[in-house]
Amino acid sequence: MIYLDNNATTPLDPRVTEKIIAFIKEHFGNPSSLYPLGREVKGLVTEAREQVAAALGARRSEIIFTSSGTEADNLAILGLAEAQPEKREFITSSIEHPAVLETARYLEAHGYTVHYLPVDQTGLIDLDFLKSVISPNTFLVSVMLANNEIGTIEPIEEVVKIAHRYGVPVQTDAVQAFGKMEVKVDSLGIDLLSVSAHKVYGPKGAGALYIRKGLDLKPVLHGGHQEFGLRPGTENTSGIIGFGEAARILREEWQKDRNRLEKLADRLKSGLEKRIRGIKFNGHPEKRIKSTLNFSFPGLPAEAILLALATREIYVSTGSACTEGSGEVSHVLLALGLSQEEASSALRLSLGRFNTEQDIDQTLAELPGVIDDLRREFGS
Ligand SMILES: Cc1ncc(COP(=O)(O)O)c(C=O)c1O
Repeated sequence: MIYLDNNATTPLDPRVTEKIIAFIKEHFGNPSSLYPLGREVKGLVTEAREQVAAALGARRSEIIFTSSGTEADNLAILGLAEAQPEKREFITSSIEHPAVLETARYLEAHGYTVHYLPVDQTGLIDLDFLKSVISPNTFLVSVMLANNEIGTIEPIEEVVKIAHRYGVPVQTDAVQAFGKMEVKVDSLGIDLLSVSAHKVYGPKGAGALYIRKGLDLKPVLHGGHQEFGLRPGTENTSGIIGFGEAARILREEWQKDRNRLEKLADRLKSGLEKRIRGIKFNGHPEKRIKSTLNFSFPGLPAEAILLALATREIYVSTGSACTEGSGEVSHVLLALGLSQEEASSALRLSLGRFNTEQDIDQTLAELPGVIDDLRREFGS
């Protein structure tokens, strides 16, 4: 099997698997319990929090564990909205993940005004538009750090500079950036930042929100006092322990991973461009996560390519896993100005820690033939 869909999810790192298994075998205590069984688990959750915080250059007390990147995004946006009820405007980009976009729609349905920043043909947001719509009535600006479909890296430091002039906090969805580029809260200047364990070789069901010290947020769920009173519910302890280990590994190895993956991705990109006529690359040529590759094959439906590759045990995606199967064309590619036809012929290949040179060579050997066959079949 060749797995080239690492932006959808990543396999567990075997070191994470081991850590989780050892933990669940030995510990069932509730971290809120005051006797040793609970205290021990609380200590391990704190260690995991330390690891996630260290990977982001944050303090341990600034990390709230959630069930997912989606929940972290919701908590950031809705939690801040609720903390400043007098402010009724929200700014985000038109190419966010549904975790942010659907939360924006929810706000609109509840009477908020939402401004969607347009992007250029490479996926970079329009900073002048941001300057023209931001106001003291804005409660938050939320712009993703790296896009999940095309990998474009947004100018978050610039967004922060503009927003802070108005005293407006900034959140970034760093779910796809974490582990693939330097993500440090202080150099970004960010106030809130979301990450997810299953995108960094950790388990599903664990995410985290960084909240800069001093920023006031209200909980979105209501219940106990877990997670500093911001995320009630007994903690997903094994998920959190796994996330901590994934973050530890990532802190030590992300640069090595990135350098290796960039070389593999370059080889895949130039190999495909050489071998397949009419292939069109989508995204920014430079400012992007290089291990995310998005191409259009005009005239061919992406699903047909995906399924033909799947029969050869090569797994790729037609866009984000969340819109796949919905029949919807990618809102990201349409926002870049692609036609319906170009957008519906787009394939995403995303590389990860466990991909090898053989994976790339095999894909280069198979994909051009698949495209030729389909072009004959579709007469394009
Ligand atoms: C940019 C981005 N944000 C948020 C999410 C949602 O994360 P999770 O699957 O942990 O809810 C994803 C997952 O695809 C993503 O790519």
